[in-house]
Amino acid sequence: MKHFIFRKNALYSGIILIMVVALICSCRGSGGETGSADLDAIGDQLQLLDQNVQSGVVADSEAGDRSDGFVPRTVGEDGTLVLVKGEDWTSGFFPGVLWYMVELTGEETWRDRAEYYTRKLENQQYNKSDHDIGFRMFCSYGNAFRLTGEEGYIPVLVQSARTLISRFYENVGCIRSWDFNRDIWQCPVIIDNMMNLELLFWASGQTGDPVFHDIAVSHALTTMKHHFRDDYSSYHVVDYDTITGIPRQKVTHQGYADGSSWARGQAWGLYGFTMTYRYTKDIRFLGQAEGIADYLLGHPNLPEDGIPYWDFDAPGMPDEPRDVSAAAIIASALYELSTYSEKASYYRAEADRILENIWTGYRSPAGKNSGFILDHSVGSKPAGSEVDVPLIYADYYFLEALVRKNR
Ligand code: GLY
Repeated sequence: MKHFIFRKNALYSGIILIMVVALICSCRGSGGETGSADLDAIGDQLQLLDQNVQSGVVADSEAGDRSDGFVPRTVGEDGTLVLVKGEDWTSGFFPGVLWYMVELTGEETWRDRAEYYTRKLENQQYNKSDHDIGFRMFCSYGNAFRLTGEEGYIPVLVQSARTLISRFYENVGCIRSWDFNRDIWQCPVIIDNMMNLELLFWASGQTGDPVFHDIAVSHALTTMKHHFRDDYSSYHVVDYDTITGIPRQKVTHQGYADGSSWARGQAWGLYGFTMTYRYTKDIRFLGQAEGIADYLLGHPNLPEDGIPYWDFDAPGMPDEPRDVSAAAIIASALYELSTYSEKASYYRAEADRILENIWTGYRSPAGKNSGFILDHSVGSKPAGSEVDVPLIYADYYFLEALVRKNR
């Protein structure tokens, strides 16, 4: 009898063990909460990327500098890794990718690497040369603080927010995005700039000083007024008169044409207004985000798999390159939007579908592309730069979308 009870207990224990293992496996990819995206395969790619970064096998970076780059951005035409310095607008994404791996896997080794690359950006808190300090610092230091709660990250982030608002033009009501093309533009503001408001909202919440929040709201309202067309598509660049605050011209820099819908720009807008609603609870921003989402998802030129061409008006479709970075940003934004909107199930299902299609159709082959997770993004088609390549920010928003899907 005793023997029988022992065997029965062993049987139950065995069944429970199998169930636990099955549950763990399902959470780590292959049909679980990450869809079919496989965290082990992603981890292998990123380890390769980290090794390549450390071994310093680099092609010319954008800055033409072969030796000082320390974070990965893309691969060059010869297939080798392009590393960039802290000043590059993309420098915060690799540390951010590593922080998302900490969040997705809970593995300490990712934390060591994430901290290492984050700290290397410390001096960027004073970089006021453009609006991109939000990308640089909030994707790196912002995630570091969010996940660790370590107070040492706070002063760097607050200083970064101060640096960003030093670019605010009161008469315009916006933060100036770029300083180049001074002979053509007075105060150029790009739709991408919406993304950098998150640093400001966070800084007001952290310090209690409303100035950051007020500037962010002013920027968002002004952008809503002047960047968008009636169908919720957006211009890339609006150049404002610094005295009157009136738009002088509405043009593109990375899109197909001034009047076209550059895919990543639409994605930045969707993400930016969704995030702005999170911090303000102002219904106007939710309406704007829903309008952009519906424009994008219902667009006749959006391919069946939900991965947009680099511009919704690109002339050579279907032979134009897709932009996976735009798709990843859209998926991540839709997950957040689904938590606020009455159309929650629609947005969530679309996010799931896009995310799944990115993973099944656009990822780098294992061990290839220097270790970037995804392939097939576009940096700037008009400049002939980074066309149909891996881009670190595509990887960043893809992992962020996985985190949000899990949540
Ligand atoms: N923010 C620069 C880009 O999207 O290319």
